[in-house]
Amino acid sequence: MINVGVFGASGYTGFETIKILRQHPQVKLIFATSENSAGRNMSDIYPVAWDVPLVSSKTAPLDEVDAVFCCLPHAASMPTVRAARQSGVRVIDLSADFRLTNIATYEKWYSVPHTAPELLQEAAYGIPEINRPQIRETNLLANPGCYPTSIILALYPLLKAGLLNAQQPIIADSKSGLSGAGRKASLKTHFVEVNENLSPYNIGQKHRHIAEVSDIVNRFEGNGDNIIFSPHLVPISRGMLSTIYAGLNEDQSSPQLQTLYQEAYTGQPFMRILPDGQLATMAHTQNSNLCVISITTVTPRQLILCSSIDNLGKGAAGQAVQNFNIMFDIEETVGLI
Ligand SMILES: NC(=O)c1ccc[n+]([C@@H]2O[C@H](COP(=O)([O-])OP(=O)(O)OC[C@H]3O[C@@H](n4cnc5c(N)ncnc54)[C@H](OP(=O)(O)O)[C@@H]3O)[C@@H](O)[C@H]2O)c1
Repeated sequence: MINVGVFGASGYTGFETIKILRQHPQVKLIFATSENSAGRNMSDIYPVAWDVPLVSSKTAPLDEVDAVFCCLPHAASMPTVRAARQSGVRVIDLSADFRLTNIATYEKWYSVPHTAPELLQEAAYGIPEINRPQIRETNLLANPGCYPTSIILALYPLLKAGLLNAQQPIIADSKSGLSGAGRKASLKTHFVEVNENLSPYNIGQKHRHIAEVSDIVNRFEGNGDNIIFSPHLVPISRGMLSTIYAGLNEDQSSPQLQTLYQEAYTGQPFMRILPDGQLATMAHTQNSNLCVISITTVTPRQLILCSSIDNLGKGAAGQAVQNFNIMFDIEETVGLI
């Protein structure tokens, strides 16, 4: 058995991580943390029939675990990750604190100093379908953001083949369920504000996830400055759909693109490429770790990709457990659907 702890267990991604780990036959949950609800049980704060005691981060027994999932807000994650690494514990961090390789870029987008720069060297960005070898080796896994996961998985076959037209913007129009904003109440996520509504926010080049998508596009020698990103809040609990408009630098037919995508994701258990004519929807992936992509050819050089994930699944806790499985040499699909 692998002993694990979950920091931030009272939040949406922490709770989802624990729900998945409870189904995992090779995991023993040793601790789950909350600051505001320390001393209480999970059933006191979520309507569940099972239970896990909640403890404060300070009292979490790091010496009893092999790995921790850090489901904390950015900035709060850095000291916790450092303490875990100093105890020799392997970390899967769901925050943005170790995703960006450049400290100045992190500090620009997140408006806080990076307080654990020495750990960036050992951090590996982890989309399994792209970074599996690095994930296997790392002790500090930077779990990707939800929007970037949906966008990067849609672009990856084109980036790998060098087919994206660097002169043309990549336009990602993305929709997220409200759990993407976390459990803490705010006016933006108040029922009356969101119900029967659809709200764009931070559109253009203002959302933090732009930096993460750009970073990956640049790693493939694409033009990471050329991304336009328009996120929207949808009045549903969970789910994410990115509709991406991308230009190509050479003509491609629909069958050629189908083959390109099928081959890029051959043998990847959580990837589905829909046949020509079908479109990905949120319902394709809700409550799962799947990513489902559809490809629509507008002209031989202009595509519309629809990429569906569950923000709490492949966009957070599901992908975190998939990464954990790879790090601990466990069958990648264990515990996941
Ligand atoms: N929600 C998503 O769809 C999603 C997707 C991908 C990545 N992420 C990332 O995952 C992380 C967690 O997101 P979430 O949506 O689960 O957030 P959330 O629902 O707001 O939960 C945050 C958790 O962190 C704890 N916490 C807050 N401030 C803390 C501090 N200073 N020290 C220790 N613990 C603290 C909270 O505990 P208390 O009980 O004390 O409040 C709670 O357990 C974030 O970095 C987020 O960007 C989220």
